[in-house]
Amino acid sequence: MNILGIETSCDETSAALLVDGAVRSNVVSSQRCHGDFGGVVPELASREHERLIVSIVDTALKEANIQKSELDVIAATAGPGLIGAVMVGLCFGEGLAWALGRPFVPVNHVEAHIFSPFIGTGAAPEGDFVSLTVSGGHTLLSVVHQDLSYEVVGRTIDDAAGEAFDKTGKMLGLGYPAGPVIDRLSREGDPAFHRFPRALTASSRTSRSYRDNFDFSFSGLKTSVRTWLDRHDRAYVEHHMADIAASVQDAIVGVLVEKSIAAALRFRVGAVAIAGGVSANSGLRAAMGDACRKQGLELFIPDAAYSTDNAAMIATMAALMISRGRVPANAYDAPPFARFIPAGSAALK
Ligand code: KG4
Ligand code: ZN
Repeated sequence: MNILGIETSCDETSAALLVDGAVRSNVVSSQRCHGDFGGVVPELASREHERLIVSIVDTALKEANIQKSELDVIAATAGPGLIGAVMVGLCFGEGLAWALGRPFVPVNHVEAHIFSPFIGTGAAPEGDFVSLTVSGGHTLLSVVHQDLSYEVVGRTIDDAAGEAFDKTGKMLGLGYPAGPVIDRLSREGDPAFHRFPRALTASSRTSRSYRDNFDFSFSGLKTSVRTWLDRHDRAYVEHHMADIAASVQDAIVGVLVEKSIAAALRFRVGAVAIAGGVSANSGLRAAMGDACRKQGLELFIPDAAYSTDNAAMIATMAALMISRGRVPANAYDAPPFARFIPAGSAALK
């Protein structure tokens, strides 16, 4: 089966060809027009997707050596994301499917991230697992069952983990997106240089017990970095930039690892899978690896190319949905959505 996947939910325009479960092409164009603004400007993102979508899809088809007439299914992200950006890929995909007389599959972007560690492997692991999906827009802890349904057990109550990297990085003058820069700087810094807050965790400095709380909060970290910066002069900050980066990363990663492991133990699963842009973080990969080894848990990590937004995960999710009979009968008019809607099952709370 030849599946064309399309992804335009944020600032990556991407198209991919999945042929019988194997990724034949995955073309990703990352927009460079947002750097000066310290974040993605929604209208600029939509216009850039519109400018690129035809050529990106053509390149993906060419690289896979597949003609449009050979496509069996067209899939695109239907949300969540920036609504104008989502609409470009969604409408393009629906239009192409309709013109070719092929089925169209609308895909939930977060669900596609959840299953991204298994792209190209043909299957999810045997047994239930805990998924930590961490990107610029989402921070979600879910228990994923063998039938690929899932329950959301925790989520951020304010900023996403990627936002925590990007916004603290912006304060430090590291540009956008700051996540990869903080990651790089952290390798030369001392994570114990300053202890930034770890909200809603057992190690946070409050008397409340957060043992069974799987939600996240990163807004206090932002305030803490702001306050720390206000108290130190620029030369000192510049001199210790790697140390601050390592300390910020340690605070974010510490919370992500602590909650993922606690959820795996609490819900008695044998594996943890991480996904989303932040799963590219080398500190998170290492710390989660150590923690999983200690607890005898298996760890699944997506290929670096599939951590950040990409269309291979959209085509793969469409294939999973088809295999589970979860495809709407006539999806040519699937509505775009901005917020996360758990499609696989109900949220636990
Ligand atoms: O999944 P993604 O490409 O887009 C969204 O759906 O949001 O994730 C982008 C996010 C950004 O916040 C970026 O700073 C972060 O992932 N990111 C990283 C790293 N690479 C990307 N954060 C920390 N370390 C990295 N190596
Ligand atoms: Zn994403």
